[in-house]
Amino acid sequence: MASLPGGLIIAIDGVVGAGKSSTARGVAAALAYRHLDTGAMYRAFALAAMRRSIEARDSEGVAQLLVQLDLTIDIRDGEQRVLLDGEDVSDEIRRPEVAREVGAFADVTLVRLALIERQRSLGSRGGVVADGRDAGSVVFPDADLKVRMTADLDERARRRYRELIEKGVSTSLELVAADIRRRDREDEARDYGARHDPAETLELDTTELTVSQQIDGIVSWARQRGA
Ligand code: DC
Repeated sequence: MASLPGGLIIAIDGVVGAGKSSTARGVAAALAYRHLDTGAMYRAFALAAMRRSIEARDSEGVAQLLVQLDLTIDIRDGEQRVLLDGEDVSDEIRRPEVAREVGAFADVTLVRLALIERQRSLGSRGGVVADGRDAGSVVFPDADLKVRMTADLDERARRRYRELIEKGVSTSLELVAADIRRRDREDEARDYGARHDPAETLELDTTELTVSQQIDGIVSWARQRGA
């Protein structure tokens, strides 16, 4: 049984490019839960800072922006939309310029604390599928279901490459693979989100799985837990 009125809290973390977001979106749709894409919040914060020429090391600017930040996560026609100052920036936050800058902002403790608080409040009634590297370890340590997604690097690079090409971003498979390798290394060096408890986290290797198989796997685990 879910311990919260709105349903289970499902936390999905895992390596860069394992398909966390698209899987989480599908699981949320299948269960009629909300999808909480925590990475989108960091990206939106980075975009807001970039628009105001605030750098990650400018603690005062960052602190001020956190107070002013008008960030809304909205579900429209089943799709998560990210609104910054009322403007839909869901596509813009996926651009490579934002991807390049976001890590520096995600490293700022003040930013993490503020966004984690928002994420907890968005999930407080349950019925939520949260994805992000610290979703199960930090944001929702008491989640009803914790999943860690993995996949081989080559497969992750192919997937991300296809995704970017479909969005009209011009890049190469080599560049994408190098970027994922770099982000893997950065992730290993970070201390947040790394300490998931293997005893309570279900591992899902998606190298050979389609997105719908990934979704089905997690949905059936969720059903076993009362979703
Ligand atoms: O998953 P993504 O690519 O949208 O994440 C964007 C950035 O935010 C990336 O640098 C990882 C970081 N991030 C984070 O630090 N904590 C999260 N819970 C989610 C994302």
